[in-house]
Amino acid sequence: MSADLSPKTAAATITVALGSRSYDVLIGPGLMARAADLIETRLGKAKCGIVTDTNVAPLHLAPLEASLKAAGRHAGSEILPPGEATKSFTSLARLCERLLEMGLERGDLVIALGGGVIGDLAGLAASIVRRGIRFVQVPTTLLAQVDSSVGGKTGINTPQGKNLVGTFHQPSLVLADTDILATLPPRQFRAGYVEAAKYGLIADARYFAWLEQNSSAVLAKDTAALAHAIAVAVQGKADVVSRDETETGDRMLLNLGHTFGHALEAWAEFSDRLLHGEAIAIGICLAFRLSEELSLIGNNSVARVKAHFASIGLPTRIADIPGGQGPDAATLLKIMGQDKKVRGGALTLILVRGIGEAFISRDVAPNAVLHFLARQAGR
Ligand SMILES: NC(=O)c1ccc[n+]([C@@H]2O[C@H](COP(=O)([O-])OP(=O)(O)OC[C@H]3O[C@@H](n4cnc5c(N)ncnc54)[C@H](O)[C@@H]3O)[C@@H](O)[C@H]2O)c1
Repeated sequence: MSADLSPKTAAATITVALGSRSYDVLIGPGLMARAADLIETRLGKAKCGIVTDTNVAPLHLAPLEASLKAAGRHAGSEILPPGEATKSFTSLARLCERLLEMGLERGDLVIALGGGVIGDLAGLAASIVRRGIRFVQVPTTLLAQVDSSVGGKTGINTPQGKNLVGTFHQPSLVLADTDILATLPPRQFRAGYVEAAKYGLIADARYFAWLEQNSSAVLAKDTAALAHAIAVAVQGKADVVSRDETETGDRMLLNLGHTFGHALEAWAEFSDRLLHGEAIAIGICLAFRLSEELSLIGNNSVARVKAHFASIGLPTRIADIPGGQGPDAATLLKIMGQDKKVRGGALTLILVRGIGEAFISRDVAPNAVLHFLARQAGR
């Protein structure tokens, strides 16, 4: 581990080690006001085109623009509609043209100021405009700070499914300013919390136990607790990404809860009915339940995970999805069949042998998953 991850420290720097494409993730308060300096110190005197959305812009765009304008580095700002629908070919085409209109060249920078939607879209645009320009992630949601801003996966959605078109394009720097999270709606904050807890459940039982003890401080946005929660999760992701950048092995572990979760999200048509993190919370509980049915773990681990998520105010069961009738098992399995994690018709599932002991399984027959889901759908 390269970072000082002491729970008492309100700032951390984590390096994602990828040879010549290595980059730092800075975590802590007050980073936005120093953005131009932090960028210039690490990446030189580049022009910056900012991409953000209409929710984030009125709250956080001005200080970033001011910092860049003072340094003479602001090339323009593009403000897009918020929400998953923005991750589309239409928005991508328009954004690429806007970045070219801003005059960005190969040595310049795209800055993604927003949650995972803006990060995924702006990262994809940066990877193809002029055959690839650098980009900086300034994640503004907890989900983006602990997960989507790190690791270089970019993407948009198509009618065939989520994130099915995209690239691997690593950012050159990530500025995770914990102060930005002050304006994040509580439901979005809770949804992001799931992706942080995921790292504990995959490979770090001590971190999950720390979250169980300290979740109220994290939810209250206590600066040191929040920075610690983010830093440990980012370190967990950085370690995995350094080992397996393009997801041919270990990186698949980060999909704990995602095969089920993506299917639930797709069924809910990526609407506000079920946020990404909420779908992953249910998905993780399903992965633990299935692991229990396969006698890989005892009921105690399942109960701990469910109790923790429920104490945060997160859904843990398919029946918790609001708005009446939930999905049936056959529909979910069909959607799961579209998932990128399907190989040769067999499902790739991330299962667990305990808290902090996730592994990749290709052994569970689709029919067994169907029956499992049928039992879970009504609960
Ligand atoms: N690339 C990856 O590795 C990766 C990993 C996980 C998720 N994702 C993607 O991330 C997306 C979800 O990201 P998300 O949960 O950040 O959603 P999001 O980007 O839609 O942001 C959630 C909402 O919060 C608003 N918002 C953002 N920051 C705010 C702030 N500081 N104050 C007030 N409002 C704010 C946004 O406008 C939006 O309405 C999905 O598309 C998912 O596929 C990508």
